Amino acid sequence: MKALIYHAYGSPDVLHSEDVEKPTPGDDEVLIRVRAAAVNPLDCHLMSGAYILRPLTGLRKPKLTCPGADLAGEIEAIGRNVTRFQPGDAVFGAARRSFAEYVCAPETRLALKPANLTFEQAAALPVAGLTALQGLRDRGRVQPGHKVLINGAAGGVGTFAVQIAKSLGAEVTGVCSTRSVDLVRSIGADHVIDYTRDDFTRSAERYDLIFDCVGNRPLSDCWRVMTRKGTYVAVGVRPGGGWIGPLPRLLMVLLSSPFVSQNVVFFMARVNDKELLALKELVEANKVKPVIDRTYALSDAAEAIRYLKEGHARGKVVISVPS
Ligand SMILES: NC(=O)c1ccc[n+]([C@@H]2O[C@H](COP(=O)([O-])OP(=O)(O)OC[C@H]3O[C@@H](n4cnc5c(N)ncnc54)[C@H](OP(=O)(O)O)[C@@H]3O)[C@@H](O)[C@H]2O)c1
Repeated sequence: MKALIYHAYGSPDVLHSEDVEKPTPGDDEVLIRVRAAAVNPLDCHLMSGAYILRPLTGLRKPKLTCPGADLAGEIEAIGRNVTRFQPGDAVFGAARRSFAEYVCAPETRLALKPANLTFEQAAALPVAGLTALQGLRDRGRVQPGHKVLINGAAGGVGTFAVQIAKSLGAEVTGVCSTRSVDLVRSIGADHVIDYTRDDFTRSAERYDLIFDCVGNRPLSDCWRVMTRKGTYVAVGVRPGGGWIGPLPRLLMVLLSSPFVSQNVVFFMARVNDKELLALKELVEANKVKPVIDRTYALSDAAEAIRYLKEGHARGKVVISVPS
């Protein structure tokens, strides 16, 4: 089978297609014929060998040589302990090395594909959709009537966050650049701030929650536009220069918490069957629809990563795997 492989850290040029052995599922796993995968910023950071991640990913050479996590596809075979799926089931979820024709995944990281989505749309859901859902529902504790600001509203996570915050009953303000104002409004934002013209931290508004997918504004400026008991959820932080990358910003987020009245949170999304089912319900109730910016063929995955790395995707960047 074909898989996208890299043997050294570097730019997307290090990625190339290789013929590798088709994997065999373990007892608790299923074998999936991948029909689509989606790109996340983490795929870019892992492949470029961000120094801060190297203790985990391999100091000199990458341990994990095939990128990808998000996927949608059809189950081809099941391990002997698998009870929830059958061969032929269409599923979505996350597994290591999803930029390939086949992948094995634990059944606990999968759910049946929403009936109203294509494989490409379903592959866009897991990491970005669950980051938005868990960040808003669990960390931000959004309640009906809350004023929620989403910084980076046009991106992979942001486009889900706008829709999920609306489904939770919030009054939503999205921050994006001029070319994405119409998109952000079309997915439900009540107000849109064009960051090329206005600085959201200078607004007279007071937000109950800032859901920050960009991390480009000083934290003290963010506190100024938040209610006294508001919550700041740090979803993404700018990679930053040097070998320590985003560490200074992350430390500031974590250390500032005891010194301000607001609740300051950083979290990592978790993918499991229960959470995927919650997302599937929102999608099947037509409350959430993935926004797909571009779709690339598996053989062009390096281009897809290069595009995402530019930092201006509008919705998700998806990889289609021929059936
Ligand atoms: N914590 C977690 O578990 C978790 C999970 C997934 C992702 N993340 C992180 O969350 C962040 C966002 O991920 P993503 O998948 O949404 O990335 P993405 O799709 O690459 O985000 C791109 C978007 O960011 C917007 N943007 C860039 N500069 C901006 C600015 N100054 N103000 C407002 N928007 C700006 C761009 O809009 P314009 O084109 O209009 O500039 C673009 O639409 C990343 O740092 C990622 O690593 C964290």
